[in-house]
Amino acid sequence: MQGQIVGAAMVSHHPGLMQCEEFRRLQGAGEDSDLIAGYARLQARIAAARPDVVMIFDTHWFTTGYHLIDGGTHYKGTYISDEMPWYLHGVPYDYRGLPSLALEIEKVSRERKGYNRAICHPDLGRQYPTINLVKQLRLEHADLPVVSVSSCQNCEWPAFLESGEAIGEAVRRSGLRVVMLASGALSHKFNNIDWKPNHPRIFHESNVSRPENIESDKGAIALMEQGRHDQILARWDEEYRRKPWEAFGAHYLQMLGALGGAECRARGEPLSAYENARGTGNIHVWFDPESPAAAKA
Ligand SMILES: [Fe+2]
Repeated sequence: MQGQIVGAAMVSHHPGLMQCEEFRRLQGAGEDSDLIAGYARLQARIAAARPDVVMIFDTHWFTTGYHLIDGGTHYKGTYISDEMPWYLHGVPYDYRGLPSLALEIEKVSRERKGYNRAICHPDLGRQYPTINLVKQLRLEHADLPVVSVSSCQNCEWPAFLESGEAIGEAVRRSGLRVVMLASGALSHKFNNIDWKPNHPRIFHESNVSRPENIESDKGAIALMEQGRHDQILARWDEEYRRKPWEAFGAHYLQMLGALGGAECRARGEPLSAYENARGTGNIHVWFDPESPAAAKA
């Protein structure tokens, strides 16, 4: 049977969500980030989609020369972030990979003279856009294999769509049911080290770096809700590439490429509020590629 993408999402992975609940509530002026409740909502969607594997487009795994696909059989260890080791440390992880899918993607890409390659080294370091989602979405508990995809840093944005197209074809050939998670923010401009919050609730959207970034992010979210990914792509050069989105949008663009690119009409359903994290714009948005509205226009 042909494989299919049975669910997809834009997902925040920001490290503040890995702080303890008491600290998060203090930061949130008494209330936790809605992204935490959003993880539970997303977890339910993933369970209902009954995937065989979860693919994570990782916006911190930067690669040069190729779009890499994690092809290890198993990843186990204790994660410490070298970015904020004072609190993001000692995170145990133990999950399966799925080499067959990574290798299928490389095969399709080679046929197309593309740049997707599987990397099967068991010692390859982990990044928190993958680890945080593995933990927050309880993917280990669900015993779901996880395959991460890198963000190539020396390509123009249409190459991300091509990478996604190769991934989409490999999914079809694989016979697998796949959920795709684009792990990253929209606008990704940090607030300065000595910045003072505009709002006492740190997660409040008014703490996102700039008003025009909030407006731009909300415009993109509205287009996602309408399923008008074509219009997001039409605005990419002039708007979203310049904000810029996290990893230059490698997460969204590769996921969208797999879903059909400009032809995709999968409507986004926000599963959380839109929130600030250090100035960046964050939200979880679920896409159901199997819904009637997602049929090609
Ligand atoms: Fe990030």
